[in-house]
Order: sequence, then C-alpha cells, then structure tokens
Amino acid sequence: MNQNKTSFILGIDTSCDETSAAILKNSQEVLSNIVSSQIELHQPHGGVVPELASRSHLEKLPLIVGEALSRAKISFKDLTGIAVTSSPGLIGCLLVGLSYAKALAYSLKIPLTTVHHLKAHLFSPFLECEETYPFLGMVVSGGHTALYLVKSFDEINCIGQTVDDAAGEAFDKVAKLLGLGYPGGPIVDRMAGQGDENVYQFTRARVKKGPYYFSFSGLKTAVSLLLKDIRQKNKFSETVAQNLAASFQKEVVGSLVSKIKRALEEFPVKSLYISGGVAVNSALRSAIENLAEQKNTNYFIPSPLNCTDNGAMIAYVGARQLEQGKVASLDSNAYPSAPMW
Ligand code: KG4
Ligand code: ZN
Repeated sequence: MNQNKTSFILGIDTSCDETSAAILKNSQEVLSNIVSSQIELHQPHGGVVPELASRSHLEKLPLIVGEALSRAKISFKDLTGIAVTSSPGLIGCLLVGLSYAKALAYSLKIPLTTVHHLKAHLFSPFLECEETYPFLGMVVSGGHTALYLVKSFDEINCIGQTVDDAAGEAFDKVAKLLGLGYPGGPIVDRMAGQGDENVYQFTRARVKKGPYYFSFSGLKTAVSLLLKDIRQKNKFSETVAQNLAASFQKEVVGSLVSKIKRALEEFPVKSLYISGGVAVNSALRSAIENLAEQKNTNYFIPSPLNCTDNGAMIAYVGARQLEQGKVASLDSNAYPSAPMW
C-alpha cells in the first residue's frame, strides 16, 4: 500500500449477531461505524440462531456498507483496502462477510486483509486512546474471556482465559434463567442496579490450570439451583431477581478484577485496557477504575460502541496489517476458531 496516499479502509464484521461496517481514514480516524443489531430477530428464541443470523447478514451487509460509505462521504472507488473478520465466530456468518469482502476487493482491485476478531477487541481501545506498551489487556465478551500481556502489535501472550463459559455467556444464561430475555448482559446490569449485591454469596471457582484462568459455568449452575429452590418455595419476586442479578454480577466482576489485580502485581506493564461487550458493564467499569487508582496504573475502557462488536475495530487492526503487507489471498477461508497469530 502507498504510505503517502490517504487511506480509506473498510472494516467488516459479521462474526455473530451484529452486521457492521466502518470506514477508517489514515489508520486512525473513524469516519463512520455502522452497527445493525439482530436482537429483534433472535429475541423470540432466547439466543442467537446461527442460520437466521447468517441469512440476515446476507440481506443487510450491502446496505450497511452503503451506509458506512455515505456517512463517511466517500464512494467505493475511494477505498484503498478492506479488512474483514475471518475468525473466530459462527462459520455461516463469517463466510457471508468474507465472501462479500473478497468479491469487493477483487472488483475494486484493492488489497484484502483478514482479521482475528479477538485481536480487534484487544486493540479496540486505540480507536480512542494512544497505544502504550507493554500493556495488560482483557477481552471479555459473549464468546471469550481472556487476559493478554502485549509487548507490541505482534507480540501478544495469552496468560489465561476461561476454561468453560465466557463471562458474557454467563450473563446471558443467568438472564435467561431469570426470564429476562436476550442479550442478557445489559438487562442484568440494569436489574443489578436495583438490587442488593450482598444477599446471595457464591463460592469462587478455583481453576487448577493457572492463576489467570477463569471459570463461570459453576456460578451459572449455582444460580440455577438457587432459583429452583426459591421458585419451589414460591418465593420468587422482582426483588429476589434484582438481588440475584446484583449478587451474580458482583461475583463475575470480583473474579475478573481479582485476576487483573494479580497480573498487575506480577507483570510490570504501563497500562491496562479492557474491551469486549462485557466491558460495557457498569459494575466492572467502576471496579476497574478503583483498581487502577489503587495500583496507580494508567487504564482505558472504550465507549460502549467500541466495546461491543463493530467494524471500526476490524478496520483498525486491518489497516495495521495492510501497512505490514499482510494481504490475504482471494482463496482464504473463514474458521470458527483459530489462534490469534
Ligand atoms: O463483544 P460482543 O459484542 O460480542 C462477542 O464477541 O461476543 O459481546 C457481547 C456480550 C453478550 O454476552 C452481552 O450480554 C454482553 O456482551 N454485554 C454485557 C453488557 N453489555 C453487553 N454484559 C454485562 N453487562 C453489560 N452492560
Ligand atoms: Zn466480539
């Protein structure tokens, strides 16, 4: 890619239940970031239905890309590169984005680069703040919960992750148990704000694999058993649901923050960055703020739009990859799971 020319990278993400496209100018300036959520489509089913999700991406992606271009006040011929998520995610969904991106790159004769969704989350804070290395980064989303020690754009060491459910998955499952709908995270967050977090105590899972590994499936089971008991005794009420939401959230946040604290004590990093959908959570945001203050650590959590799935974070990592000459061939494939490097 010509380094002196103004670059306009189109970033596309169709990995799960959000169709998103963004335009990034000169690797830094977000001109547009359009996210179309499929919440209404999946709500009646209480979770994402992969086949419905991919069909909806197919229908909406051309419109969303058109909207991203028009908000950025540029046209297809101005694009200098395309970045698209190729893993991890729902395979049918990924293939929609990848096939579209390949066809567009071929017809416009511009380079294509494929982006790892988790790397995009990990670097999404830099859509809004300066990169400082080394940093401790946590990606906490619906599909993943992992801690990374990052020395540079290409030196990323995963020091721990969940051994079962992701934190967002636990939020979604507990919301379902409480009959609150999908996606559960934002609803549990709101309900927890009305409840008393000290009413129910949960035992923290001990994960043998290492100090920075997480486990949330036992917590979900504990909530489920507790609820069963409460319902059998006919004691379920709005207040019970609020207290349970608050107590559950306290435990998830406590588990995440205790491991971040330990990692900050072990590794001499310059900054702490949290990203992914669960990073929107109000209790997690304030707990991280307190921890960073206590440890005198520079930290940043992106705004909600940049925490959840979006095309700008794909364009950000994609732009860097294109600068490095990492161009994907037109026969590249999508993968439901793949390592970050
Ligand atoms: O990063 P993301 O948009 O998609 C994945 O890559 O998974 O994250 C979605 C997840 C869902 O599980 C959703 O319930 C959770 O993020 N989430 C939240 C909040 N907002 C979204 N979890 C807790 N509190 C929130 N406020
Ligand atoms: Zn995501």
